[in-house]
Amino acid sequence: MPTDAVTMDKIVSLCKRRGFVFPSSEIYGGLGSSYDYGHYGVLLKNNVKNQWWKAMLQERDDVVALDSAIIQHPRTWEASGHLAGFTDPLVDCRTCKLRFRADKLEDAQCGRKPSKHPGETPDCDLTEARDFNLMFETTVGPVKEEGSTVYLRPETAQGIFLNFKNYMQFARKKPPFGIAQIGKSFRNEITTGNFIFRTREFEQMEMEFFVPPDEAQSWHQHWLAERISWWTSLGLRPDHLRLRPHTADELSHYSSATSDVEYLFPIGWSELEGIANRGNFDLTQHATFSGQKLEYVDTATGERYVPHVIEPAAGVDRALLAFLVDAYDEDEIEGEQRTVLRLHPILAPVKVAVLPLVRKDGQPELATEVYRELRDHVQAEYDEGGAIGRRYRRQDEIGTPWAVTIDHQSLQDRTVTLRDRDSLAQVRVPIGELVDVIRGRLGELWRSPKLDG
Ligand code: GAP
Repeated sequence: MPTDAVTMDKIVSLCKRRGFVFPSSEIYGGLGSSYDYGHYGVLLKNNVKNQWWKAMLQERDDVVALDSAIIQHPRTWEASGHLAGFTDPLVDCRTCKLRFRADKLEDAQCGRKPSKHPGETPDCDLTEARDFNLMFETTVGPVKEEGSTVYLRPETAQGIFLNFKNYMQFARKKPPFGIAQIGKSFRNEITTGNFIFRTREFEQMEMEFFVPPDEAQSWHQHWLAERISWWTSLGLRPDHLRLRPHTADELSHYSSATSDVEYLFPIGWSELEGIANRGNFDLTQHATFSGQKLEYVDTATGERYVPHVIEPAAGVDRALLAFLVDAYDEDEIEGEQRTVLRLHPILAPVKVAVLPLVRKDGQPELATEVYRELRDHVQAEYDEGGAIGRRYRRQDEIGTPWAVTIDHQSLQDRTVTLRDRDSLAQVRVPIGELVDVIRGRLGELWRSPKLDG
């Protein structure tokens, strides 16, 4: 188990206090396992997604983008196997009226006696287990009774398979190539909890990589290495990350091999991303159900085959939680306790804070000028309220890597102090060089200071 200061409670409390994540619908008493992202949560989430797009699109020539609909033709879910097989076994307790996953009773608490598991007290009266489909249902059409039943997608992946033919025809793609998508997915999860780790509405970053069948295994290895390297390049400590191959009885119905990227959360090792070899399951199923040919044909040689698919599938919310947990730290400065998020600067919601030392003597005016210059280049924040120490603490808690302080000397020689969140080093920099200095620092290789602590 982790030895550092972080706990899930501390993360939840920091997220609420500093406006990263709020429990949803709070004024109505909240809705279990539903969360809203506040200002810094949105900025952090966007940075995570931008880094994923960068790795998938900008740094490669063989992946293209898609943004497909959330509500798709209902046959999609017959073909994909979700309608029949995307289920959890459930039991109800007739005494406490709570519902539990039959295969996770040892993780659940009895409604009447939380120190016991369901079924362990003489009062527990559990029903037989029955399958419960995790897809959210709704109807399309103005009259509910006459409309057709549709589903909110439980994964973004199927939208990619439905568009395979479009990409073959219009993007003139030839395997190996991938289609990447980020978007919301919905699952009526029974066992939620652990903050944003498992929720009913969440965001996925998925890429389906179509390959010639005999290359599937080597591409699977390629993507395992690529994805681990992406997580570590953004600062996650390597000793808190591992790849865990699924055992045969864990594999999804479509997969011939899956490895999970797992992170050592405060709740223990848990899945961040699944990297599956889906074989030709999905394209073959959609070809059968739609009557369309979903294959690659080489017009020069006449060769034809149904590509196999390698799928790296990560959760945005879980990524955010892992980055927050990995970054969370506590230390002491001049006898005062400090909470600090040691986020990779590229992920930090705000890159630089501009702080006049005092709210007089022309300092706010010069600080505003500096702030306006910086915000054209990076996400910056201006703060003139309260003691300077408290303003530093606030920026430390939201993970801002650098703070620029305008003081008396700044008005005389147009230099400012640049404070580093992690080392606390302060250097004097001419205002005219600030943008270049910050850009330079943002481009540097970064390593978590927690690795050295
Ligand atoms: N297309 C394959 C697929 O959806 P998955 O392992 O079920 O595979 C991929 O989901 C990722 O989506 C997971 O590794 C996790 O990060 C995220 N995810 C899945 N269910 C989630 C939930 N209920 N809440 C938050 N994230 C979830």
